Amino acid sequence: MFLLRNIHLRMDGGYDHCSKNSYILLLIICIALLMTVPTHTSDEERQVYIVYLGGLAETDESPSSHHSRMLQQVVDSRFVNQSMVRSYTRSFNGFAANLTAQEKQELAGHEDVVSIFPSRTFQPQTTRSWDFMGLPENVHRNLTVESDIIIGVLDTGIWPESESFNDEGFGPPPKKWKGVCEGGKNFTCNNKLIGARYYNSHQDQPSDGSARDSEGHGTHTASTAAGNYVKDASFYGIAKGTARGGVPSARIAAYKVCYSEGCREVDILAAFDDAIADGVDILSISLGPQTPLQFEDDTVAIGAFHALQKGILVLQSAGNSGYKKTVASIVPWIFTVAASSTDRGIVTKVVIGNGTVFSGKAINSFSLVGTGVPVVYGKDVTKTCSEVSARQCAPFCLEPSLVKGKILLCDNYSGVNNAFRAGAVGAVTSSNALPPQVSVNISFIVPLPASRLKDQDFNDLQSYYAATITPKVDILTSESVKNIDAPLVAHFSSKGPNGIIPDILKPDVTAPGIEILAAFSPIAPPSDLPQDKRSVNYSIISGTSMSCPHVAGAAAYVKSFHPDWSPSAIKSALMTTAWRMDPTKDSLAEFSYGAGHIDPVKAVDPGLVYETFTEDYINMLCSLGYDTATLRKILGINSTCPTGVQITPKDLNYPSMAKRIMTGGSTIITFSENFTRTVTNVGLKNSTYKVTTSISPDYNISVKPDILTFRTLNERKSFEVIISGKISGEMVSAELEWSDGVHRVRSPITVYPDSL
Ligand SMILES: *[C@@H]1O[C@H](CO)[C@@H](O)[C@H](O)[C@H]1NC(C)=O
Ligand SMILES: *[C@@H]1O[C@H](CO)[C@@H](O)[C@H](O)[C@H]1NC(C)=O
Ligand SMILES: *[C@@H]1O[C@H](CO)[C@@H](O)[C@H](O)[C@H]1NC(C)=O
Ligand SMILES: *[C@@H]1O[C@H](CO)[C@@H](O)[C@H](O)[C@H]1NC(C)=O
Ligand SMILES: *[C@@H]1O[C@H](CO)[C@@H](O)[C@H](O)[C@H]1NC(C)=O
Ligand SMILES: *[C@@H]1O[C@H](CO)[C@@H](O)[C@H](O)[C@H]1NC(C)=O
Ligand SMILES: *[C@@H]1O[C@H](CO)[C@@H](O)[C@H](O)[C@H]1NC(C)=O
Ligand SMILES: *[C@@H]1O[C@H](CO)[C@@H](O)[C@H](O)[C@H]1NC(C)=O
Ligand SMILES: *[C@@H]1O[C@H](CO)[C@@H](O)[C@H](O)[C@H]1NC(C)=O
Ligand SMILES: *[C@@H]1O[C@H](CO)[C@@H](O)[C@H](O)[C@H]1NC(C)=O
Ligand SMILES: *[C@@H]1O[C@H](CO)[C@@H](O)[C@H](O)[C@H]1NC(C)=O
Ligand SMILES: *[C@@H]1O[C@H](CO)[C@@H](O)[C@H](O)[C@H]1NC(C)=O
Repeated sequence: MFLLRNIHLRMDGGYDHCSKNSYILLLIICIALLMTVPTHTSDEERQVYIVYLGGLAETDESPSSHHSRMLQQVVDSRFVNQSMVRSYTRSFNGFAANLTAQEKQELAGHEDVVSIFPSRTFQPQTTRSWDFMGLPENVHRNLTVESDIIIGVLDTGIWPESESFNDEGFGPPPKKWKGVCEGGKNFTCNNKLIGARYYNSHQDQPSDGSARDSEGHGTHTASTAAGNYVKDASFYGIAKGTARGGVPSARIAAYKVCYSEGCREVDILAAFDDAIADGVDILSISLGPQTPLQFEDDTVAIGAFHALQKGILVLQSAGNSGYKKTVASIVPWIFTVAASSTDRGIVTKVVIGNGTVFSGKAINSFSLVGTGVPVVYGKDVTKTCSEVSARQCAPFCLEPSLVKGKILLCDNYSGVNNAFRAGAVGAVTSSNALPPQVSVNISFIVPLPASRLKDQDFNDLQSYYAATITPKVDILTSESVKNIDAPLVAHFSSKGPNGIIPDILKPDVTAPGIEILAAFSPIAPPSDLPQDKRSVNYSIISGTSMSCPHVAGAAAYVKSFHPDWSPSAIKSALMTTAWRMDPTKDSLAEFSYGAGHIDPVKAVDPGLVYETFTEDYINMLCSLGYDTATLRKILGINSTCPTGVQITPKDLNYPSMAKRIMTGGSTIITFSENFTRTVTNVGLKNSTYKVTTSISPDYNISVKPDILTFRTLNERKSFEVIISGKISGEMVSAELEWSDGVHRVRSPITVYPDSL
């Protein structure tokens, strides 16, 4: 329970609890939800659907009365108000309504309706991390421009009183800001946190009626993107240092769309509608579905397209599903972020009575007084449970009188919470029952002295226990250690290939997302146990939710030097300058880390950028079979599918190159694929770039031309890449790099069989 809860709440990418979780408590809640008595016209079940109508219509009628009129055509007029959940009128066109299956069918046939889909519930998905990626505290900044940048965060709200959002030294909000501070009761914005809104369309949250963050997640992500410098921040002394966001001088606007049970699409779309109109520059979105959705049914993809039209760059976490083909952020106009380790790891040592020390994983803020606490195995402290359950320290197995004053040994990682509830002094657990995508290598905050050992160490500890008359152990306070392998992509980070648009490589990049220290909500329990009454201002959590705001901060940093760059240019700069990751340490290579690990300082001066414009995305969608009429509706813009050559996804002017090969079942297949790209010179006026490519016995790459000469800034030059070779069930992981001797502009090239 502990860990799964941990994953669902602290790391995005979970899913609807009703369908996914088998926990009895949740089942009861789910059944109760299903049994609620309908209040509408009929006894028929209703659910909230999003009725998406595309871009803003140019009509005399107000959009919201148009929405009511449409609804009236299918719902009894007396109930229209009750059925209408939300109108989207500021940045795009649509509404959400509570409908029966029949009413939904009828509306779907309406000529204005682009798509209609149930409002699902998504899950929300520092000190060292910025230094690690080479953005030190004293890095060169343009503070004037930086303080004009507004980062919007869609999350669980924000803790406005956090030191990370103190506005000392900040001037008034930038003039372009059109948002408001509607954070609700007892919520005040300032010149740092310039806007706040909250959404609760179903009006069913145990809501404080405010944008205040009671989970900690939104405070954490917002402060990672743009929190102030805060000296001596730590979690009880662990990971101590100066906490700061990527752009400490930028402004923050918080949009609360997530509550403890997740983030409803109806609210996510409402937040996009507002944030775009409010005038944010960058949107950081650490939430999403667990599996990829078709883009016209994906609120984040739709919202992000409208954001793009206004020059807003949207970043989204890849998801925490682990495994291949799970990346749930798939469209090329979103910047998709995987999560990886930094050079700082957190360990909790366990010292056993005979002096042996094991290094385990946990974030343990407690220190046990004295040397050695009696240790007792779960199986030996039960009166009611079978040995198998008791070994796991399963719920209700532990006899409080027998565990008092003891450290418990548990075969199941989730035993930690049960040990806490039973009143034990501490717990040492194995890594059993850890969801496989999590990996044993991530530390979570524990509510009592505890550590999780590797299987071998746990077995040794068991032998010691069995062979010793008065076995004792000590659990030390956590310490930081150097991770020499870093950065490695986390097991939980959702991986490619892209399940919807196979020839667009996703995720795009990776950034720190393991054991990240950032601001937190003092009313949220720091571990996942509500009974954990500790109150902290800074906490350590893991997930792609944490890596996404790192890239949002980095993008804002790049933008502060190039305020006029398009979202695609900023994204390209961060992709082509990313650190090369080591494919020998990650079998899914680019499907784990995309172009690599971001390097914000390098990205300020990338030399060349791959730019993509609205028309390019539209042409790409045309090639995927969407017709002009549908696209006009979906995207709300006046454009036409080209009649001649179409831009297929592989030829979209993207900074990475990917191609899926249809193998027709053959194990070995030869291929020859080409990609066309156009680069724009943003480096030196007069410069000559030469290409180099990776070399392998498995493929040949040729680039034509292989020299690009520029005479002016913003000059564009095209080239073609042909890669040929053979594949046998494995992906080809190649790259090309343009260099003028000063800049290196690197793109991954990925060719993979459809069997992958
Ligand atoms: C939608 O209708 C159902 C009855 O079918 C009701 O239980 C539910 O509360 C309604 N939801 C909203 C958001 O109005
Ligand atoms: C529905 O709401 C509108 C605007 O809020 C109001 O003018 C109208 O009287 C309401 N209709 C009913 C039937 O309650
Ligand atoms: C900051 O950027 C502005 C606008 O691009 C520029 O005029 C100014 O000189 C820059 N300041 C510094 C310190 O780089
Ligand atoms: C407002 O919120 C702050 C921070 O949680 C709290 O200390 C204070 O008591 C609240 N005031 C009211 C009137 O609720
Ligand atoms: C696991 O964590 C330890 C300590 O934090 C670190 O040294 C090691 O490199 C990590 N291994 C992986 C695969 O991340
Ligand atoms: C570990 O505990 C969890 C939660 O109590 C339970 O679902 C799981 O089955 C246990 N694992 C094993 C291997 O028994
Ligand atoms: C202590 O016990 C462990 C586990 O049985 C064993 O591996 C280790 O060798 C012992 N160390 C000493 C110093 O006896
Ligand atoms: C958290 O910050 C508040 C001020 O916002 C301060 O009063 C409190 O002491 C801090 N708590 C801890 C544990 O540092
Ligand atoms: C849309 O484009 C067509 C031609 O491409 C033009 O005739 C029409 O006026 C445009 N409509 C709008 C609303 O801009
Ligand atoms: C590029 O590939 C397409 C098929 O994807 C093919 O029709 C075309 O001839 C190729 N161009 C070159 C120059 O190889
Ligand atoms: C551009 O560079 C080339 C080679 O470095 C040099 O010969 C040429 O004079 C330069 N042209 C200008 C306009 O600076
Ligand atoms: C690469 O090109 C060389 C020279 O044309 C050729 O001999 C070799 O077979 C090619 N390799 C592959 C994997 O196609």
